[in-house]
Amino acid sequence: MGYSRSMLDNPGKSMHNAFMSYAQRVQILGDVCFVRAYAKINLTLDVTGRRTDGYHELATVMQTVDLHDTLCLTGTGDGRVGIECTRPELSNEGNLAAQAARLLRERFSISQGVLIELRKRIPVAAGLGGGSSDAAAVLLALQQWWRLPLSLPELTALAATLGSDVPFFLTGGLALCEGRGERVTPLAALWPPSMRWLLLLKPAISVATARVFQALPASDYSDGSASRELVEALQEGRLPQAADFHNSLERGVLERYPEVARAKADLLQAGASLVRLSGSGPTLYAPFPDLSSATRAQEQLQASGYEVYLAHAVYPDGKVAPFR
Ligand code: C5P
Repeated sequence: MGYSRSMLDNPGKSMHNAFMSYAQRVQILGDVCFVRAYAKINLTLDVTGRRTDGYHELATVMQTVDLHDTLCLTGTGDGRVGIECTRPELSNEGNLAAQAARLLRERFSISQGVLIELRKRIPVAAGLGGGSSDAAAVLLALQQWWRLPLSLPELTALAATLGSDVPFFLTGGLALCEGRGERVTPLAALWPPSMRWLLLLKPAISVATARVFQALPASDYSDGSASRELVEALQEGRLPQAADFHNSLERGVLERYPEVARAKADLLQAGASLVRLSGSGPTLYAPFPDLSSATRAQEQLQASGYEVYLAHAVYPDGKVAPFR
């Protein structure tokens, strides 16, 4: 059985459904609320031009994966937003998750305080969207918990003030994101079986997204056709061509960060047939058709000292992506 194109013809409905299923992931237990925040990979990232506001115009296809952070929110009487993270350097009010909570408290003049406990698993500044996903999870959790009268478009507009890819994480799953990344079209598509497992390799460096975009020459811009082709292939249940997995930022990152270029070569040597940069990196992802080949490559790479995660595509309700 295949999915029909018509599922995409009603993005409003499919976005609503995705939003509702994510909302179900929020577990409220009295004055405590748990929520998961999934990581993403960029299957494509076409940078199509530079905007007058300093941002870049994008067409990017993103997919959430099961690697996730866990947040626990507790109501407090001190009227403040506090954050405690398993990575102490993130336990500060600049954390995007804390900013998200402050944004909603101020907008709705909420007097209750909230403590955010954040169990971090997603590597930081890695191109996996961890900070943005945490922020989106806080928005969704507090919207439900505090019963805030916010429509999805209103919540999306608030999310976009926190970061370009925060709106994507309100729905998650598979989506085409345009504009500076904040215009999200959820996609109903079939995930190719040859991509059932994903290895995510995080080289031991951090990459600042702003610097990668700043250094991007116009010669690395693309016309958006890779994103279009990839979407079409997935919707028709075909495996996209290798060239469709295009990331306009990859060439520059591989050139400027030899650690990333070396990691890409090592992933290929370990048996990956396709390796791409996620976002502005430095994390690379590689699809594998079966668990044994994925774990073999993972063990080989870990033995060489790499940080490698085994993951698969997921939807916000925790369901795996439908396979062809
Ligand atoms: O929106 P966000 O704060 O996540 O973006 C981080 C940085 O990445 C921006 O300050 C900008 O330099 C760059 N960026 C861009 N074009 C985009 C998204 C991000 O130039 N579409």
